[in-house]
Amino acid sequence: MSIRNLYINYMESPKGFDVRKSRIQWELDTDEKVLVQIEKDKVIFSQEVENQNYIDIDLDLDELTQYTYSVQTKEDKKSNTFITPKYTNWKADFITPVQENSAIVEKEFEIHKEVASSYISIVGLGVYEAYMNDEFVNQEYLMPGYHCYNDYLQYQTYPLHLKQGKNTLSVLLGNGWYKGRLGFSGGFYKVYGDKLALIFEIKINYVDGTSEIISSDEACTSRTCPFSSNGMYDGEIFDANQKDNEKAKVSVLNLDTSLLQPRISLPIVKREEFKPELIVTDKNEMVLDFKQNIVGWVECDVKESIHLRFGEILQDGCFYNENYRTANFGYQYIGDGQERKIRPHFAFFGFRYVLVEGLKEVNVDSFKAYAIYSDLVETGYIETGNEKVNQLVSNAKWSQKDNFLDVPTDCPQRDERLGWTGDAQAFSGTALFNMNCIPFYSKYMKDMACEQFKLDGGVPNVVPCLYPKLENYAGDASVPLDKIKGYASFLSGHSFCPWADAATIIPWNTYKMSGNPDVLKEMYPSMKAWADYQIQHEAQGDDHVPYLFDHGFHFADWLALDNPKPGPFGKTDSYYVASLYYYVSCLYTSKAAAVLGYEESSYYYLYAMEIKKAIRNKYLTDGLVNVGTQTGFVIALCFDLLEKDEVQKNADALAQMIEENNGKLSTGFVGTPKLCFALSQNGHEKLAYNLLLNEDYPGWLHEINLGATTIWERWNSVLEDGHMNPAGMNSLNHYAYGSILEWMYREVGGLNEVEPGFKKAKIAPKVDKRLGMAKIMYQSVSGTYKVEWKFEDKVSLKVNIPIGCSATIVLPISKKEVEVTSGHYEFVES
Ligand code: BGC
Repeated sequence: MSIRNLYINYMESPKGFDVRKSRIQWELDTDEKVLVQIEKDKVIFSQEVENQNYIDIDLDLDELTQYTYSVQTKEDKKSNTFITPKYTNWKADFITPVQENSAIVEKEFEIHKEVASSYISIVGLGVYEAYMNDEFVNQEYLMPGYHCYNDYLQYQTYPLHLKQGKNTLSVLLGNGWYKGRLGFSGGFYKVYGDKLALIFEIKINYVDGTSEIISSDEACTSRTCPFSSNGMYDGEIFDANQKDNEKAKVSVLNLDTSLLQPRISLPIVKREEFKPELIVTDKNEMVLDFKQNIVGWVECDVKESIHLRFGEILQDGCFYNENYRTANFGYQYIGDGQERKIRPHFAFFGFRYVLVEGLKEVNVDSFKAYAIYSDLVETGYIETGNEKVNQLVSNAKWSQKDNFLDVPTDCPQRDERLGWTGDAQAFSGTALFNMNCIPFYSKYMKDMACEQFKLDGGVPNVVPCLYPKLENYAGDASVPLDKIKGYASFLSGHSFCPWADAATIIPWNTYKMSGNPDVLKEMYPSMKAWADYQIQHEAQGDDHVPYLFDHGFHFADWLALDNPKPGPFGKTDSYYVASLYYYVSCLYTSKAAAVLGYEESSYYYLYAMEIKKAIRNKYLTDGLVNVGTQTGFVIALCFDLLEKDEVQKNADALAQMIEENNGKLSTGFVGTPKLCFALSQNGHEKLAYNLLLNEDYPGWLHEINLGATTIWERWNSVLEDGHMNPAGMNSLNHYAYGSILEWMYREVGGLNEVEPGFKKAKIAPKVDKRLGMAKIMYQSVSGTYKVEWKFEDKVSLKVNIPIGCSATIVLPISKKEVEVTSGHYEFVES
């Protein structure tokens, strides 16, 4: 096979995405001309492409149609399909059932002619599953996912199999993110809507050339669902005894159909399957251990009632999930004596361990867990000679899968699971190597833009943002109103640095990997809006220094270990951090504008330079950063604050500070992602490796030694004795510190783009004998790079450059530079 990795708009076979503006991309093993074609009954597009592995096309595509797109060489042909969504205005109405938390909405219709094709355009709110004559239509879960429902509504498109005579569409509706409980400290109900809702149009094309549309309307009926209770945090209760076959009328709901747009969220799919081992604890609990902290659910065959509760860790050998706070209920099935295969429909869980309650005996073979996450292609691979480092790599990848369920979340298990912008920006550089996140971040950035529009360019702490109504507070009735107000305003808080800088950092990181100006163009309004917001809101207070962002609250180096004051805030001056990211945001906006040919590029550049000058004036003494923390040096070094002749002494000062801290890091969410870069790019490779390989607290391998299978929120979320940190706020699945993988791709593997999109790369691995070997692979949009080194007596290096690409290889010992084009290269040095 000489053709691989064929995608349209970064997806393999998209259904219901609008791909009229499309990029078709492929990878070849040989340097050949290809023929790109798109066809339905006949070929509608055909073009030869040479010296390029993609083509951008503006296509005139019919709605609700399946097309095949293909790429062929002389010997090989590869093809995939896509289905277009409906483009025209909706004629159907939103309907709502009488039931409150869940319902089965049905529509019956007759078919008496031969059907050529049929598609459903549909969205149910909160979450839905659609069945046509009992066949699961979506084959994806928790649809329509989580987006800014108040600003736009994504509908999905699926092909249908209809039969002659009576057909029944049944749609299960549950609360989901839309109207179930969301937010910490008790949370709020009905954040986005207060009624279940459904809209659909089934288009039937008959063989005789006629067509028909069946829509959601008052002729639909609803039945009570056995899912008596459901919610993202509250799990699900399925009562099989609740057999209500009485059909109730539905009513038309006044929801704006002009908000409807074809989907942009990737499908949420079932991926890896896990089989458990049974543990009977000292408390006589039956606990299933799936060996990997995942996000998804458990499926099993049961007759009796059963209650499954989920946890990430055992405590003293027994079941534990206090760190889930109020999201600890799990999944309960109340049986009616009939054997059934059960699974949740309206909830997901983060877990490694599952407490099984209600069964006299547990037959482990009947339980399976499934990982559920957005349908992303894995593009990055890292293997080293150190098993613990390999486990760390696996942990970071799992934390990504577990937290990439439509929205990049902080954590997937406790009563939070929100799109925290700070976590997302810290991890984005790594995420984009691990998986093809371009469509995933495009959707997140669309949500961010919607939110920024309401905030004059400000960026909320969580995207999608929550603006709950106080009367919908879901916590304890005794909580005073001013406290509830405080919770609500924190949830809708915005423009805290460097969380808000996700608006510029994620687009820029995505552009570095995609190399596609169209992707950047879509995201650019967010960048500009945030830079402008900061410029407008910079001046405040008597002590304000022009060009510094020196007021207000900022998360800054969240969870750093250097603050003698207890609490989650690091010691690094939050105005230094905010000002530095102000500089970064203006600089990235200027760079993006330059790529897009916008004149305003120089405006943001000049602004960035003034900010840089002001930061240097205040936060540098004799060319040295005077902030007094590791993170202070790290971000100055990595974000280009320093003059050439200042770099080394700042890097040396950082190294010395680490040495004085017993060779340990003390950084939080801001410093950690860049820490090893600041060292290894400035002559302190050995120290960067020391930090990576350090097995004591605090360090990446410390948690590996304590059995972690995902990345923890805190360096010491679990104490040495295996107990959870009593400080609270302990998730064992928070990806921020997994950002070390970007350092491994870029410094251990040495793989960096010279041009966005990796058409040209620089490969300069930093080798260390203690690691033994490293194998790094990255399926870039331009092709797959491989770098493999071994450090025994000699250092050997093997490199693969994909077709159509070129690279500068910097040999690890001699630092000799070799210019190469596509092919395989081997070097040995001593
Ligand atoms: C979240 C974080 C987030 C932080 C900021 C936490 O509760 O889990 O990861 O960034 O709050 O306040």
